Amino acid sequence: MWDIELIILFFLNLLVPRKKGIMVRIAFVILTLSSLILACLLAKITSIALLPPLPTQCLDHFRQNRSLKSYLDSIDVLIQPSSTVCSEQKDVPLVVLVTSSPNRFEQREAIRSTWAKYVPTYFILGLNGPVEDLMSDMVENYVEAKMYSDIIIYSFQDHYQNLTLKTALMLKWTLEHCPSALMLFKTDDDVIVNPWMMKRVLKETAGKDLVGYRKVNNYLHRDQYSKWYTPRWLQREDFVPEYLSGTGYLVNGKHIEKILNTALEVPMINLEDVYFTYLVAKLKLGLTLTHDYRLSPYKPWIGEDCMYSGLASAHSLTPQEILKAWAAIEVVANTTRCETFVNNFWNEWFLY
Ligand SMILES: *[C@@H]1O[C@H](CO)[C@@H](O)[C@H](O)[C@H]1NC(C)=O
Ligand SMILES: *[C@@H]1O[C@H](CO)[C@@H](O)[C@H](O)[C@H]1NC(C)=O
Ligand SMILES: *[C@@H]1O[C@H](CO)[C@@H](O)[C@H](O)[C@H]1NC(C)=O
Repeated sequence: MWDIELIILFFLNLLVPRKKGIMVRIAFVILTLSSLILACLLAKITSIALLPPLPTQCLDHFRQNRSLKSYLDSIDVLIQPSSTVCSEQKDVPLVVLVTSSPNRFEQREAIRSTWAKYVPTYFILGLNGPVEDLMSDMVENYVEAKMYSDIIIYSFQDHYQNLTLKTALMLKWTLEHCPSALMLFKTDDDVIVNPWMMKRVLKETAGKDLVGYRKVNNYLHRDQYSKWYTPRWLQREDFVPEYLSGTGYLVNGKHIEKILNTALEVPMINLEDVYFTYLVAKLKLGLTLTHDYRLSPYKPWIGEDCMYSGLASAHSLTPQEILKAWAAIEVVANTTRCETFVNNFWNEWFLY
């Protein structure tokens, strides 16, 4: 806004007849400069006034203690399936654990009625309130758990900033209840899995340590308004050389125990994926992070049937979008209809 003012004053300055003398011209220059400064000040004040208040970051629990061990020692499993695919079967090729939250019924319903029919899938949740109120706060979750036998609830506060803890509990649960699983797929409840392509990915990446969508040389979010804000006191380095996107990554079953035990010695940060795949798996243990674009943190922007055929997982779908995309996936499943397309034309440019 001061640009315009400057231009106006500049022209005014030109309008002052030269013969009016040096004093008048100096007065005009001073006026110009002081208006400029005033305008800048005003702009600054209004922009500060218009800025929304800083969000509460809920990172305080990390200030108290960043030791994963101290959290795990005080967290118990409250509800879990009485039997799982792993208690019935040996060498389960894949078990999927989904981070969810107590109120996200619709997301879980969409997943159950679609891809979870083909892959053993369990949801992991925290608490809405104090543990004493479990039976009043979370009656519906209790009923849901009884009905579907796919819910695991641990005694910690369910919050976005507790995702690292949730992932740790996922590893712990898998270790205790599914030690023979060959691969664990860690994912979110806004993700669609294409079981047919997943099978191919598993076959092609058999024996690998961790597989997912690898992000290279990513800067951390230092902007306090960001959902992924990480303060310097949590992670000093400004960028992460490599990690796998937390929207969906595979962990080789034989490494789960090592990863969990090593994590007990690595101070936690709020970014679950950077923490487990980079700080623990890569940096501490020297495991290899294998990039596979088919475990995608994005989704196709063209709604064509074959779009999802080229992916093993896609992220950021609403429950309605999951149902819709699933219809497309199922229609071409067990057929060769999309093979030519996927092998020749499918491209990452179709994702956003
Ligand atoms: C954090 O927890 C660990 C492990 O339980 C404990 O040894 C340590 O003293 C705790 N630190 C603080 C500051 O409470
Ligand atoms: C994370 O969980 C711990 C343990 O229940 C709790 O003390 C802490 O307040 C939680 N953090 C948030 C942001 O809710
Ligand atoms: C695809 O084939 C598998 C195994 O042959 C079968 O279990 C499944 O129901 C089929 N899916 C569809 C959508 O036809």
